[in-house]
Amino acid sequence: MTTSKNWTNHAISKIAADFQRSADTHLIKLELPSISGIDIYLKDESTHPTGSLKHRLARSLFLYSICNGWVGPETTIIESSSGSTAVSEAYFARLLNLPFIAVVPKRTAAKKIEQIEFYGGKAHFVEHSDQIYAESKRLAKELNGHYMDQFTYAEKATDWRGNNNIANSIFEQMAMEEHKIPSWIVMSAGTGGTSATIGRFIRYQQHNTQLCVVDPENSVFHQFYQTGDTAITSNVGSKIEGIGRPRVEPSFIPGVIDEMRSIPDAASIATIHWLKNIIGRKVGASTGTNLYGALQLASEMKTKGQRGSIVTLLCDSGERYLDTYYNSEWIKQNIGNLEGYPKKLQEFEVSGLLTA
Ligand SMILES: Cc1ncc(COP(=O)(O)O)c(C=O)c1O
Repeated sequence: MTTSKNWTNHAISKIAADFQRSADTHLIKLELPSISGIDIYLKDESTHPTGSLKHRLARSLFLYSICNGWVGPETTIIESSSGSTAVSEAYFARLLNLPFIAVVPKRTAAKKIEQIEFYGGKAHFVEHSDQIYAESKRLAKELNGHYMDQFTYAEKATDWRGNNNIANSIFEQMAMEEHKIPSWIVMSAGTGGTSATIGRFIRYQQHNTQLCVVDPENSVFHQFYQTGDTAITSNVGSKIEGIGRPRVEPSFIPGVIDEMRSIPDAASIATIHWLKNIIGRKVGASTGTNLYGALQLASEMKTKGQRGSIVTLLCDSGERYLDTYYNSEWIKQNIGNLEGYPKKLQEFEVSGLLTA
């Protein structure tokens, strides 16, 4: 069945007008005197209307599916998600008057479920994060709907050459800084779509920037990067919501990555609490993973006597996670002892060096 051209034009116009009404996100420079000469920036993706970097992806996925003729005026949209993408897709589904169902793991932050429902979407729960794919496919078949499948299409749907993608925006916003071309951009991977966009853009623009991808515990991306084995799986889900996957996602593109690092979950959590004292705001745990990687790189640059800039992403706000990452009882039960990371971060603030 082909979708009517009228509806397609109407849907694209609605998304375009919504984009026209939107502003870009801020690039925040951290004040860290102990690493003078090395500047760290956070691209604050929490300020999108739906609160995370996934607003960009949701817009791209809707445009891609509509232009491919996969979505029409009656199509139920189904998505597998750890929550953030689903919140953003629920927003665009509402904009187009389409029913939306998110297939999410049971442990997803309650605040995200509330937001999905606020935008008129429904949450459909599965026990473990590795069950979201099959259940989404099954539901799409049963309801004759469309499975958006961010894990397959994230890297395809985003226009990596430019068109105001996140990489384009970062380089434009750096234009008047002391070190305009970052030495490093640091990003974690959920679908791998954002790191693919950034890595491709760096190469296409021939920038002298390296891409470092940071991975949390229980994720297979780092091991895949080292071994090339696409069949690796993990039966324990990532505890850092939004990033780290139990299988190698099709949108994860290793060839654009210059370096990968594993970041302990305790370091990610300690970093978000440390950052609160630097910027006065709470952020999500994936931002902690990103920033801890950036601080490691800054410390190494300092040791080598290098100067330059490092950009990483503030993926979403901590207000979504008050009952988990900002609840000391939850941290004790799920992450355990933060193993001295708060102390390492305090020392970094004084010396600019992060001990291993
Ligand atoms: C909070 C958060 N941070 C980071 C990411 C990773 O982004 P990507 O899917 O582009 O790899 C996600 C993805 O869901 C996320 O929800």
